[in-house]
Amino acid sequence: MTRIVVVGSINMDLVTQATRFVGPGETILGQGFVTVAGGKGANQAVAAGRLGAEVALVGAIGGDVFGRQLHAGLEAEAIDLAHVHALCDASSGTASITVAGGENQIIVVPAANARVTPAQVQQAHAAIRRADAVLVQMEIPLETVEATLRLGHRLGVPVILNPAPAQRLPAEWLKLARYVTPNQHELAILLGADASDDFRDLMQRAPCPLVLTRGEEGAWYRDQGEPVHQPGFKVDVVDSTGAGDTFNAALAVFLHEGLPAAVRKACAAAALSVGKLGAQGGMPRLADLDAWLAAHPAS
Ligand code: RIB
Repeated sequence: MTRIVVVGSINMDLVTQATRFVGPGETILGQGFVTVAGGKGANQAVAAGRLGAEVALVGAIGGDVFGRQLHAGLEAEAIDLAHVHALCDASSGTASITVAGGENQIIVVPAANARVTPAQVQQAHAAIRRADAVLVQMEIPLETVEATLRLGHRLGVPVILNPAPAQRLPAEWLKLARYVTPNQHELAILLGADASDDFRDLMQRAPCPLVLTRGEEGAWYRDQGEPVHQPGFKVDVVDSTGAGDTFNAALAVFLHEGLPAAVRKACAAAALSVGKLGAQGGMPRLADLDAWLAAHPAS
């Protein structure tokens, strides 16, 4: 069984459905509201688990009712939570999300996630050493992201850095990742470049191997040499929240099959994930993904 360790955030998503996004100073009526589990770390852990991996999560929740609900949800997904700290003096992370026309807007309050420490990563040393891949994102302190990259690199375990939400990072850190997985906007921020620059030029300028996500256009990847395109899959979008997390999880789970196969499966898993409301609502199980791929053979 593929073993994955995820170092990242755990949030409660407060999701409002509306017909459009609200402007400054404006009030509109929404169509619905749900409270569902989210957070990039938790989402990637759940997606990897549903795709058949054995998953351990390193993170933190608050001592509030959200924390208890999030813990129970992750336990039900059979995620190893030995390295998730419950902080009784903190609130759980939240994400206030508006979904309109399949797009979303998100404000994240990290709360307990801001206290995921490098020491916690060290404590997960044994799990990381045994892992086939490690996933890390940027809703936790940057020093913890750095500790994850350094430990994975030192142990020879591939670390996939999903640089979201993006901040400029030292080139030295990017070089420690096996793959960095930004979208175009995030790549420009990472490199301190202009977002209007051609994304293929940006990819060539990056100091690390990249898998660049392009929404329904699919993904581009570059290990060495020229960027290669993997077309996306056309689907009806209910809610795109968590599609990137599903993509990253599938990339990690299937990396051992080689990059082209892993990226194709990641595009398919992400496409399947957008059919239901909530970040984790549409995340496919391995059987769903296999059936989808059999019905959509590579051309
Ligand atoms: O990537 C989607 C996630 O981003 C949401 O679940 C939300 O919690 C934010 O962290």
